[in-house]
Amino acid sequence: MKRARKGQGSAGGKGKAICMPIVILLSCILTCMVLTSCQGVRKEEEKISIRIGISLYRGDDTFINNIRGIIEEKAKEYERETGIKVTLDIQDAKGSQNTQNNQVERFISLGCDVLCINPVDRMDTSLIIDRAMTAGVPVVFFNRQPVEEDMNRWDKLYYIGVDAKETAILQGRMVVDLYRKEPEAVDLNGDGVVSYVMLEGETSHQDSLIRTEWSVQTLKDGNVPIEKITGGIANWERSQASALMEQWLAEYPDTIELVISNNDDMALGAIDALERAEVMDVNVIGIDGTTPGLEALESGKLLGTVSANKELYGSAIVRLAVSCALQEELPQEYSLTDGTYFWTPQEILITEIKENP
Ligand code: GAL
Repeated sequence: MKRARKGQGSAGGKGKAICMPIVILLSCILTCMVLTSCQGVRKEEEKISIRIGISLYRGDDTFINNIRGIIEEKAKEYERETGIKVTLDIQDAKGSQNTQNNQVERFISLGCDVLCINPVDRMDTSLIIDRAMTAGVPVVFFNRQPVEEDMNRWDKLYYIGVDAKETAILQGRMVVDLYRKEPEAVDLNGDGVVSYVMLEGETSHQDSLIRTEWSVQTLKDGNVPIEKITGGIANWERSQASALMEQWLAEYPDTIELVISNNDDMALGAIDALERAEVMDVNVIGIDGTTPGLEALESGKLLGTVSANKELYGSAIVRLAVSCALQEELPQEYSLTDGTYFWTPQEILITEIKENP
């Protein structure tokens, strides 16, 4: 027994020498298994749930609201298709860059995987970018394009929007085409000149200046004889546009034949003023194809609009955000220009030509 024990003992001593590498090997295997399974869990966790922080420059903007609805819809659709839970934390910055910066701080502290930001001040996104870069959280900007210098700071910054020049050319082209087909539907008094007023969006917005310039340039290039009566800034807002239009109708009675508006909401404001003044024959054109814009188009109050493919716009935001969060390739249908920009396609929507009274 003793010997045996000794033997066992000595065998144990020798065994220890043999067993040690086995123990080390086993513990290595075990450690690897634990690590792999931890990674597996982490990967699983990443796969089953994504948190997206979304900040809107103003929640009461009609077009932004339309896009928000589609983002929510597309996130649900993605959840149904993949079983991956997508939590959207949507906040309204109410026109304050400071509020938006705080929202970004909160999103990051809550552990959001990706941010979708509709910047309040597109020239002042540096704080957002600093925070995102430090935390390693990618940012998908949309609708209000940060300046190129900021966009070039990190390869995890993206932008989704529409090409403003293309929008404006399409807006101009709808009038050019109509004028060629039926000049009297545009030159309402038949004096050989189309007298127009221009409603502009926010001055700091990349879309306002470009839309204003290129819609008019397209009319000129298309040989529509135009004359500007007046114009003004209504900051995308229906009520501000309505007030301006009311004033212009009083200042220039029986003169205005065409209202060119940088967006649908301001076009609707102009229509409100025209209705109040009981002036029914003025053509009004907008941009966006918002829900109320499309209703006005349907009823013939709005002559035409340029509509971005909002389904694609919203789904591009969701798919790009999800791809960033999962570190996966973006599906091919959302091809990015320079690996950074997604330009949403747009189309002209025009109502039946109005009858001149
Ligand atoms: C424009 C849009 C406007 C307004 C603005 C907000 O692209 O046409 O209606 O939503 O964005 O940034």
